[in-house]
Amino acid sequence: MVRRILSDEWAELRDIRLRLLTDVPWRVEHLAVEQAFTQAQWEERSRTDATSAARAGFVGCDWDGIVEVDDGEIEGLWVSPGHRRRGLATELLEAAIDWAAARGQGRVESWVREQNAPGIAAHAAAGFVLSGRVQQWPDRAAWQVHMFRVP
Ligand SMILES: CC(C)(COP(=O)(O)OP(=O)(O)OC[C@H]1O[C@@H](n2cnc3c(N)ncnc32)[C@H](O)[C@@H]1OP(=O)(O)O)[C@@H](O)C(=O)NCCC(=O)NCCS
Repeated sequence: MVRRILSDEWAELRDIRLRLLTDVPWRVEHLAVEQAFTQAQWEERSRTDATSAARAGFVGCDWDGIVEVDDGEIEGLWVSPGHRRRGLATELLEAAIDWAAARGQGRVESWVREQNAPGIAAHAAAGFVLSGRVQQWPDRAAWQVHMFRVP
């Protein structure tokens, strides 16, 4: 089951974000940043993910998957290794798309590294298509990120 994060779930949000940043090698430089967040910062983030009209966070399988969407842009899609290949990422992306659409944000965008085959497959399964926009990953000459979009 996928559902929106609740305001008071700051500790669960902190734990899954730190698991994500530890697991995903290309985000590791951000780990120290979020490890240094104060409780007040996590409380603010869970409150925003739960109640904002522009931003939302969704979790599934009792905090074994997460996605956040901010102003129509997907952030931090992650499913814990033991829960992969069961459709959870697709469900999380669909929840974010439906939520944004219900708020009049017709277009949802997401940047995915071209080497990330599972990430690309999960976006395709949720209806994302290549937009044609490509960027260089900062400080990594060999890495390109493609913007996917719905619709
Ligand atoms: C990418 C990720 C979120 C996918 O999560 P998931 O729950 O396993 O994805 P799903 O089960 O919803 O799979 C969606 C589609 O992708 C395909 N897929 C998932 N993992 C795959 C893999 N390793 N290789 C090939 N295809 C894969 C599935 O077969 C499915 O396709 P289908 O609907 O045609 O059968 C997960 O692997 C992850 O957290 N990876 C590390 C973080 C990351 O890369 N996040 C995305 C950043 S853009």
